[in-house]
Amino acid sequence: MKTVLVIGSGGREHAIVDALSRSPRVGKIYCAPGNAGIAAQAECVPIKDTDVSGLVEFASSHSVDLTVVGPEASLAAGVTDAFRASGLKIFGHSKAATRIESSKEFAKVLMEKYSIPTAAYRSFTDYDEALAYVSSRPLPAVLKYDGLAAGKGVVIAETLAEAQAALKDMLVGCSYGQGKVVVEDYLQGPEFSFMCFVDGSRVYPMPLAQDHKRAFDGDKGPNTGGMGAYTSLPFITSEDREFALSNILQRTADAMVAEGCPLSGVLYGGLMKTDGGVKVIEFNARFGDPETEVVLPLFEGDIYSLFEAVAGGVPAEQPLWSSDVTLGVVLASKGYPASYGKGFPIELPAEGKIYHMGTALSEGKCVTAGGRVLMCVARASSLKEALSEAYALVREVRCENLFYRNDIAHIALEQQ
Ligand code: AMP
Ligand code: GLY
Repeated sequence: MKTVLVIGSGGREHAIVDALSRSPRVGKIYCAPGNAGIAAQAECVPIKDTDVSGLVEFASSHSVDLTVVGPEASLAAGVTDAFRASGLKIFGHSKAATRIESSKEFAKVLMEKYSIPTAAYRSFTDYDEALAYVSSRPLPAVLKYDGLAAGKGVVIAETLAEAQAALKDMLVGCSYGQGKVVVEDYLQGPEFSFMCFVDGSRVYPMPLAQDHKRAFDGDKGPNTGGMGAYTSLPFITSEDREFALSNILQRTADAMVAEGCPLSGVLYGGLMKTDGGVKVIEFNARFGDPETEVVLPLFEGDIYSLFEAVAGGVPAEQPLWSSDVTLGVVLASKGYPASYGKGFPIELPAEGKIYHMGTALSEGKCVTAGGRVLMCVARASSLKEALSEAYALVREVRCENLFYRNDIAHIALEQQ
């Protein structure tokens, strides 16, 4: 039986641990650092997800057969390169390949070179030049900080004054570190997430999902890490999906091989269906969160074997997916994505799929420990059923400091 280490501490990692626990080949699962929910299915070890040498040392000394990386921060810290250098098997891209997510400019240059459809752009380090360019283009302006900024590096400026303030912050104030900004054209249309397992030029697609980035109902309020997700998107036709698979995901995998930094892990396409066709909004080099919590429950087969094949660079069996629909609602701490309190006790129902996103154990009790705290997920043969089951589960959670959106999947349901 195999021993696996999962790196990360959120709902995405809980869903990965849950999928691995269904594999007949897996005997022992460790999670570093994990959370209170993961602790019920894996042994949590207190090593930070960016403590590369600590993770290598743990995997070597605990006979770990395979490590699966959740967060981009671990990949960008070079965890994969360090594991491989020590002869350890790991599912996740090299630091060089992770630039597809960690550098907006790298991704834009690649897309331009290989004709991968995306918004037109220019990049700047100089504030005056950036402002002159923005002033010459129609509003709104999309300003993207070039680097990992925990989902907070994108500003959609409706007015020139807003653009000016954001550019000042990114290029003069440098609130996130190094100063470089990608300015791109504003696109419109429904967004969706298309994740694939990728090993060099081998691409294994997962079911499509849609995230809900804004904090409040009706897509109002600030951008968050994602407040809910579901699979089965009626507004994306099979032609759209085929187009995205061959002209975006496959082409990107091939481009990364040609550039000498092949992908080995998950490629996440954050896509938009515009009037001019499907285009890339962003790439991520990892499983999406909360998309993974609705996608992996549909996986049919042995996920360990799939991770192992991708990590080892050998062909995998084509993954099979259930035709059921899943829907998940995120419960977040009041105040999120701005400041929020922690340590509120949580009481959970005995039954139902609830992934922990930001929880901890305090004196043996489960308490809130993050912005996004829990995700209640239901699976059914129709979206309507999945929706009512997921919200029934949400109403069974007892915690005084949580809020959630009431309209997950509204775009899909309005079309039915
Ligand atoms: P990103 O971090 O690149 O995914 O951007 C966060 C969010 O900003 C996206 O999910 C979109 O809703 C929005 N966004 C990013 N780029 C564009 C664009 N070119 N046009 C319109 N909206 C965008
Ligand atoms: N759900 C968006 C992300 O994982 O980046």
